[in-house]
This record gives sequence, structure tokens and C-alpha cells, in this order.
Amino acid sequence: MTDPIENLKKEFENYIVPPSWKDRVWEIEDFRKFREDILKDRESLEKWWEKWANEIFWFKKWDKVLDDSNPPFYRWFIGGETNLAYLCADWQIEQGRKNKVAIIWEGEPVDEKGEPLEVRKITYYDLYRESNRIAYMLKEKLGVKKDEILTFYMPMIPELPFYMLAVQRLGAKHSIVFSGFSAEALAIRIMDAGARIVVTSDGVYRRGKVVPLKPIVDEAVKICEREGHKVEKVIVVKRAGNEISWYEDRDVWHDELLEDISGNVEVECVPLGSEDFSFILYTSGTTGRPKGAQHSVGGYAVHLYATMKMIWDIQDDDIYWCTADIGWITGHSYIVYGPLMTGATSIMYEGAPNYPDIGRWAAMIERYGVTIFYTAPTAIRMLMREPEETFTKYDLSTLRIVNSVGEPINPEAWNWYYKVFGHNDAVVTSTWWMTETGGIITGHFPGLGKITPLKPGTNGFPIPGINVAVFDDDGNPVEPGKRGYYVITNPWPGMLMTLFKDPERYIDVYFGKYKSKGWYYYTGDFAMLDPDGYVWVLGRADDILKVAGHRIGTAEVESALVSHSAVAEAACVGKSDEIKGEVPLIYVVLKKGYEPSDEMVSELKKHLRSTMGPVVASDALITFVDTLPKTRSGKIMRRLLRAVAEGKDLGDITTLESDVAVEEAKKAYEIVK
Ligand code: WT7
Repeated sequence: MTDPIENLKKEFENYIVPPSWKDRVWEIEDFRKFREDILKDRESLEKWWEKWANEIFWFKKWDKVLDDSNPPFYRWFIGGETNLAYLCADWQIEQGRKNKVAIIWEGEPVDEKGEPLEVRKITYYDLYRESNRIAYMLKEKLGVKKDEILTFYMPMIPELPFYMLAVQRLGAKHSIVFSGFSAEALAIRIMDAGARIVVTSDGVYRRGKVVPLKPIVDEAVKICEREGHKVEKVIVVKRAGNEISWYEDRDVWHDELLEDISGNVEVECVPLGSEDFSFILYTSGTTGRPKGAQHSVGGYAVHLYATMKMIWDIQDDDIYWCTADIGWITGHSYIVYGPLMTGATSIMYEGAPNYPDIGRWAAMIERYGVTIFYTAPTAIRMLMREPEETFTKYDLSTLRIVNSVGEPINPEAWNWYYKVFGHNDAVVTSTWWMTETGGIITGHFPGLGKITPLKPGTNGFPIPGINVAVFDDDGNPVEPGKRGYYVITNPWPGMLMTLFKDPERYIDVYFGKYKSKGWYYYTGDFAMLDPDGYVWVLGRADDILKVAGHRIGTAEVESALVSHSAVAEAACVGKSDEIKGEVPLIYVVLKKGYEPSDEMVSELKKHLRSTMGPVVASDALITFVDTLPKTRSGKIMRRLLRAVAEGKDLGDITTLESDVAVEEAKKAYEIVK
């Protein structure tokens, strides 16, 4: 196996300049100076972000750019007032984009020729009207007020962005739960947010089948009730027409709620304090409990606006497509809020990349003339298995920027992406960021008019105005080409404000590691810098997996398994996988009276599916051992289990309680690999 670090180091001096950019190349030294100038002191940093803030709409301008009087609770554009719904609809209409298409939505069902049967082109005016109607309905019929949190468990249908903007209009907040999550995961998130209203759909089309969603909400609401939390209303958007159970006093059809509300209603868009919060989005941490990343209004908006300009170089004639699901931060920031606040045409689609066939994305790029494309490395690695012709038979020449996100991209996948989708002439970067950062942190910046040369697999540079570093365990910078912990060294506008209802955990998780050195945001990733200053993120440094780009806490997987009556203990680690990046590898110790068997594996997978959802369950490898390798103080040594799966040297095992467990793990791994 090639060492991933050595593999990347080979690319340090592989400078690639897309031919159409050859006259617009930034000397690395000049770019370094440009960035340093912004970062040199507080005043220039504030001036830089203020310049971006001045480009968006505010009901009221700020008094202070950055308030750092209570670190690490940084607040941006203090005293300013704006609103994401106003930025994404009203303000676009004011700028003359009333009849411009805001969202192109493509449903999954196709005719016998494979052509989509349902395409909706939603203009900015449509967006304005639909979100106003929904806001009116939520306010007048269901009594939704400023600050209330609503949970959305919705597929990729236009009603999702309509509801997002409706809620923002009222100054209420959303918590969107990815529709691949299980009832239990959904219930935990509903209860944590204290949501009294849940919005869902009957089902959704995926790979030619109808996947029901409403039954999962029914189940989640039952769990909530058992725990003493009442969900008063479940709003159901009719999408797939599948049969569903109905609870008269609780369930209500979206269409019926809107029936008697005119298309012309307007609801005042509530001016929100810049430092108010706009939404929460739960993400996985290293303990079992999900973390509610709480994002701001003003800082978040400015960060998205600036990255839409710098990273995406967004222009009025662009057709912009991010293939993510809105249930993740990528979709929040770069399908909905970022593109819409910059007046772009943003594509969203229902279904999967490989239905009706694997050429679907390429067909869509041709169909809509997509110019900017954003997807995940795992998808690229899946497409790469096909002959290039599968994609190049479509016209992909409109693409000018094609980026990836979610996990490291290996140089091989990068090269393929550049050649096939980028037709050897597009800007390609692996933009690094995370749920907590709100928006993109690293990349190349075609929007600044010049780019630094590309390198296969790199994450590019931190955005001007943001600085990063790679530290050792003690907080000393490590030299270029060496692996260390990846940190962000200054506050930035899009950063999370806190963890919902858990400020202590916010300090601890993100600022605890280097507390004695200062306020450094710890990302949880390993990274290295190269001699030019490019960032190369290497993967998670903690007990979090990235399975096909999805972020999964091993502790959550373990506690899900232990909740099964046959399981005494479980340890989950990542096993590298050519397509998915990583898959969960789980060592299970059964309780007395239970025997390992194929049936037991299927039973546990079924249990995982119902507790965690299909993302975790479908790729999980389960194997059995009698004991887990532990330290003398009883902590599971996951590091050893990972080393076994990677066929690596076990390293220091002096704290291991008994080496029998390691031998067992090796045997168990042979069975499952
Ligand atoms: C983790 C955050 C916000 C984007 C979607 C994921 C990994 C993300 C990259 C990249 C290498 C990446 C990191 C990060 N990651 N982008 N371009 N190169 N790794 O958001 O689910 O919060 O996951 O994804 O490990 O910490 P998320």
C-alpha cells in the first residue's frame, strides 16, 4: 500500500495551470504578501471583512466589525441587522432579478428515453411568493414566532428551501435533519431542539423506488412522546403519493394548510441582529451525543457571500450546481443560502447519481449548461470506474470551476476529475471546511481574478482573512511536509457561535486542545503544509469517520450496537475503502448465551439501520471477538484495531492489558476483510 503522505508529497511541485488561466496566474510569493497584508493587524483584518459586508444588504449597519471581548465566543458585525430570507429573495428582486431562475429542480422520474419528467424552474419572484405564503401560514395558523425552532426531515424537493426561507423571514430557526437518518436519531434531534413542529414529506423517489419518510417521522414522534416531548404538528408535503398512516389531530397536509392563502400575501421580514442565530445543524462528535452547531445571521451571510465571490467567482450567467443534500451543511450554505444571496441559478435534484444510469450528472450538466460544479470525492471515485466516454459523450465544456469537498481527494481522482469533468481547463480544488466553519475555508480564488497554480489533491490556501497552522501536540508549528494537527488561528465570520445549549462543550471541543497557548480552533483533522504554503488535509485525527463524505462518530455507532440485547461491547474504527474513503469496521463482543453467526451479523446490521440509518448500516463490517484490546485502565485501544485493519505496525503497546485481544482482533479481521 502506498503511504498517503508520500503519495501527496509527490504532488508538491506538480504545478498545473489550466490553459485559459495562463495569463492570470498569481505568483505564490505575491499571493502570500496579499494574504499577509490582510492578516497583519486587527485593523486591516476588520477592513477586509467590512469590505465584503458592505456588499450585502443590511436593514441597519453594524457599529463594530468583530467583538472578541469574550473569547472564544466571537461576534461579528455587532449592531447590524439583516435577514437571510431578505438577502435570498427580496434583495434579489430589488436588484432586478425578479424573473431570473433561482432554482432549477429536477425530479427523479424519467420517461422511456431517460428524460426527466419533472423539472421546475423557480424564479426569484416565485421563491419570494412561496416563502411568504408559507411564512404567513406558519405565523397565522400555527402561531410560529421569532426564535422558535422547527425541525425539517425533508427530501430534495423545492419545498425545503421554501420552508427554510419562510422560517428565516419570521426570525424563527430551522434544524434540518438529513433524511437518511433513523427515527431514533431524528427523535433525539427533535427533542434537543424542543421542536413542536416537524415538516416532512410522504416519501421521495430514489433509484426508481419510493422511499417513505413519513413513517420514520411517526416513529420518531412516538419516541419523543415516550420521553415526554410533544410534537404538536407534523406538516406533510405530498411528493411520492405513497400510502401513509395519518394522525388526525397532529398531521396536516402542506397543500391543505395553504389552500385558502392567497399567492399575494406578504409577511414582514423580521430584521435580525447580526449576532442572532439563524439555524442549528447537528453534527457528530467523539461522544455519543450529537452537537448542535449554532450559526449566526450576519457573519454567516458575509462569509457565504465572500466565498461565493472568491471561490466560485459567481457571475450572473452562471449555472451553479452543488450535488450535496440540503440536510448537510454543504447544502445549507452552497445550494441554498450562498447561491441565492448572490442571485445565482442553483440546481437541486432528487434521486441519485447512478439512476437512470451512471451518466445522469453529465447529462444534467449538458442539459442545463452547468458552469460551476461541486461534489464529493467518493462520487468521483465511483464515476471513475466507468469508461470516460460514459461522461465525455455529453457536452461538459461549459464547466469552468469544479471543486470537491467532504474528505481528502487522492491525486488519482483529482487528475480524473480535472481531465474528464474539467476538460483539462477548469479550476479544481478540494475546498476544505466543516459544519462548524459555516463556509469554505481553503481553496483557490478565481474570483480574485488570478489563481495560484493547482496541485492534484491539494486544499489550496486559506481564504484571505483566515489563517491556519499545523501544530504538534504541544502547539508548536510543525515543518512543511510533516503531519500535524490542523488549526485555524484567527476568528472568521462564518464560524459557529457555540454549540446549542452547551457552551462548555463548545470551548472544550474546539478550543480545549491548545488552551494554554491561546485561542486556537482545533479542527480534529491531520494536515500538512507544503513548502509553498498550500494546505493538504490528511483525514480525521479523532474518533470520527468519513464514510462516503458523511461524518460519523464511532461512539454513536458503538452505543447503537450496545443497545442491542445480544451485545456486551463494541468498538468501531475506520477501514479504508477505495470508493467510500472509509467504512465502519466494528468489533463486537457478544453477551453470554449468544454465538457469532451470519444471522447475527444480519440481525446487528438491521439493528444499526433502525438506530443509525442506512448510511452507517449499509457499509458496516461487523466481526466478533471475545475481548477487545484495552489499556490497563480499561480504555479500548482503537488505535490498535485500526493498525490491524491497515496491516500496520502496532506501535507502542506497553499499556495494553493483554495481547490475546490483539491476536483475536487479527483473526476476526481476516474473516471480515
Ligand atoms: C470534515 C468535516 C463542510 C463540508 C462537508 C463536510 C473533512 C471536508 C475536506 C476536504 C479533506 C475534508 C474533514 C473535516 N473534509 N472537506 N476538502 N479535504 N477533508 O462537513 O460533515 O462537518 O465534516 O470533513 O475531515 O473535518 P462535515
